[in-house]
Amino acid sequence: MFNVEPDPTDTTGTGGNGGGGTGGNGVVCNPDSVYFSNQILPILISNCTQSGCHNDQDREDGIILTSYQNLMLTVENANSTDLGENHLIRVLVEDDLEKRMPYGKPPLPQAQIDLIARWVQQGAKNNACNENAGQCDTANAKFSSFVQPLIQSRCQGCHSGSSPQGGLKLENYTDIKAVANTGQLYTVVTRATNWMPKGGQKLDACTTDKLKAWIDAGAPNN
Ligand code: HEC
Repeated sequence: MFNVEPDPTDTTGTGGNGGGGTGGNGVVCNPDSVYFSNQILPILISNCTQSGCHNDQDREDGIILTSYQNLMLTVENANSTDLGENHLIRVLVEDDLEKRMPYGKPPLPQAQIDLIARWVQQGAKNNACNENAGQCDTANAKFSSFVQPLIQSRCQGCHSGSSPQGGLKLENYTDIKAVANTGQLYTVVTRATNWMPKGGQKLDACTTDKLKAWIDAGAPNN
């Protein structure tokens, strides 16, 4: 289990957390800002830290992408606001397939690349915000607006493609509904040890409450 240590220059006073509706206690999310803990780290955990890749143990090519500190320590110019210089961005848009990341997989969706680029241009800060600022709206936890984006950002990097982790795909409604129906989906994100997202911060209570509300409603495709 990794631990995201607070960055000394982080003025939010919250340190990092895994996103998906988490943390940044008190700091309301500004829609014009991109937040590392909420939006960027989950993409890195889901797409880059699989076994054999950039996790704390395997450290492929010396790169570790499990926390802000490790990203800054191991990726060249990760704090450069110049997109051409910043190696985190360069590997995502590289034409040479031997160098492009995620290695051996399709490129990240353009929307995710754009988000990371915006975060870089905003100063590549170790920031976090609270997406639920003071309230948790479980009533509107729909598949399209809540469950699907959550699974996409937190789970699909590992659970998709030709060799999904744990032999489990979570690519579409049918896949997700199947694990929701067995109870597994809620169990794996709330259990005390070895929770999913594997190697990532645990989803916060509001996010798991919303997931439960959707599952209890029959996991509809809404
Ligand atoms: C970094 C890779 C990674 C991410 C991200 C990830 N998983 Fe997994 N998942 C695995 C691996 C590896 C296994 C195989 C079991 C193990 O090693 O714990 C697994 C197994 C599972 C299983 C099988 C049952 C079990 O008890 O382990 C479920 C269900 C699951 N994951 C759901 C999810 C969900 C939901 C998310 C997102 C919230 C997620 N996973 C994110 C790697 C990942």
